[in-house]
Amino acid sequence: MIEKVEKITCVGAGYVGGPTSVMIAHKCPHIRVTVVDMNEEKIQQWNSEKLPIFEPGLEAIVKECRGKNLFFSADVGKSINEADLIFISVNTPTKMYGRGKGMAPDLKYVESVSRTIAANSDSPKIIVEKSTVPVKAAQSIKTILKEAQAHNSSLYFQVLSNPEFLAEGTAMNDLANPDRVLIGGEDTADGHKAVQALVDVYSNWVPTERIITTNTWSSELSKLVANAFLAQRISSINAVSAICEATGADVQEVAHAVGCDTRIGNKFLQASVGFGGSCFQKDVKSLVYLCETYNLQTVANYFHGIIEINDYQRRRFSDTIISEMFNTVSNKKIAIFGFAFKKNTADTRESSAIHVGGHLLEEHAELVVYDPKVPEEVIRHELGLVSSPEKVSKLVTVASDPYEAAKDAHSIVILTEWDEFKTYDYGRIFETMKKPASIFDGRLILDRKTLQTAGFRVFTIGTAK
Ligand code: NAD
Ligand code: UGA
Repeated sequence: MIEKVEKITCVGAGYVGGPTSVMIAHKCPHIRVTVVDMNEEKIQQWNSEKLPIFEPGLEAIVKECRGKNLFFSADVGKSINEADLIFISVNTPTKMYGRGKGMAPDLKYVESVSRTIAANSDSPKIIVEKSTVPVKAAQSIKTILKEAQAHNSSLYFQVLSNPEFLAEGTAMNDLANPDRVLIGGEDTADGHKAVQALVDVYSNWVPTERIITTNTWSSELSKLVANAFLAQRISSINAVSAICEATGADVQEVAHAVGCDTRIGNKFLQASVGFGGSCFQKDVKSLVYLCETYNLQTVANYFHGIIEINDYQRRRFSDTIISEMFNTVSNKKIAIFGFAFKKNTADTRESSAIHVGGHLLEEHAELVVYDPKVPEEVIRHELGLVSSPEKVSKLVTVASDPYEAAKDAHSIVILTEWDEFKTYDYGRIFETMKKPASIFDGRLILDRKTLQTAGFRVFTIGTAK
């Protein structure tokens, strides 16, 4: 049984596996950390000057630790066998086929890593589920590993759950100063030892009172519940934004007044064009599916409302754009500011910009997209999936400059809250646009009065016209 961790391997060099491993290497110089991935190109990028993901503060730490106690390798089997502790940090996307299609998480990557561990290990190991999984996933991993143990007496595995709570764009800070670290394990003597070994890794920089230990199922469920609660707050304030638009109340004033109650709190009450990102939708759906599996249909319906409001908010915003542009956007140029699902990331997974862009393309609008970080091919690919590659090549242009994007456009649509959008000279932009020129602020980041003074018609989420 492993009691002291000296070598860690993380399987999955993505948004979670990469930054988490980099932080462990940085905070624990005595631990050798190897990050592996089946995607060789990604590993090459981690070993190069241009990292595969953009995250503020990440590059500096990679440069400091790489080649000392931090390694990136495509040799998955070898790195697994060398490790005392293995993080499984692979993707768990919504399943797009068969039973549970569109709702359940696809666990094939987690299972495949479990099998790779079983096939490549010849010494005891602690296996840590870092990926977000449904409750009881650790049981499946354990069953696969037990099979290997039965054929090799020198093998011994303990499986822990240690979900990740970092948010993209602030990952390095979240990892350095987490609100909590959650570790779930088996309630046995060996289970406790394994939990303690992982607690000892995190205690190198996380105060022990912030390290919570629970049973495995509580830990797995807490991750889904945390994301459901966060997404629920956004859907609640977005539902309120519709009432504000209808009544003349102002959603930011309401959010402030409500959030001042310390029992409610003021965070995560920013009305928007809908939440995006790879996880909120997927994890809420996973929770809904879990409830259905246990015949808790009323509970499932309750959580499903979060997704329904999010879809409604995106559609509602697109409909406002179309109706306020005199019920036709066909062949009108619309400048889209922002394509990432939030600021400070180039990640576009489930971004609301894809959905609003798709709605506008259905109406034959000509889109000129500007995003400070998202590459052109990603924008084209994502929009192609919700419309068609032919439509995208005909109707979509990607601009490298916001002033260029807005030139001759009938309107500007803000879909990501990038700080730089607040700094532009909107008076100058207005002069170059077709009149009447409109701005649709889906993120509530611009000053309405300044825009109106410049001549714009202004429409924002959560305020009456
Ligand atoms: P990602 O897609 O960025 O990275 C996953 C990586 O795993 C990919 O590079 C893929 O090639 C690799 N992989 C898949 N199967 C493999 C295998 N069998 N062997 C080796 N490599 C394999 O995903 P991510 O965003 O890092 O998310 C990983 C998990 O963490 C998910 O379960 C997600 O829900 C959870 N999570 C994500 C975030 C986030 O902000 N992105 C935050 C918290 C939790
Ligand atoms: C979210 C959670 O915040 C993390 O704790 C969690 O670990 C992660 O999901 C995950 O499991 O993947 P992330 O999706 O990276 O992190 O980013 P968030 O800051 O939560 O934003 C998600 C979406 O909600 C973005 O589109 C953002 O613009 C939107 N949002 C956020 C709002 O519309 N209003 C808000 O008040 C806050």
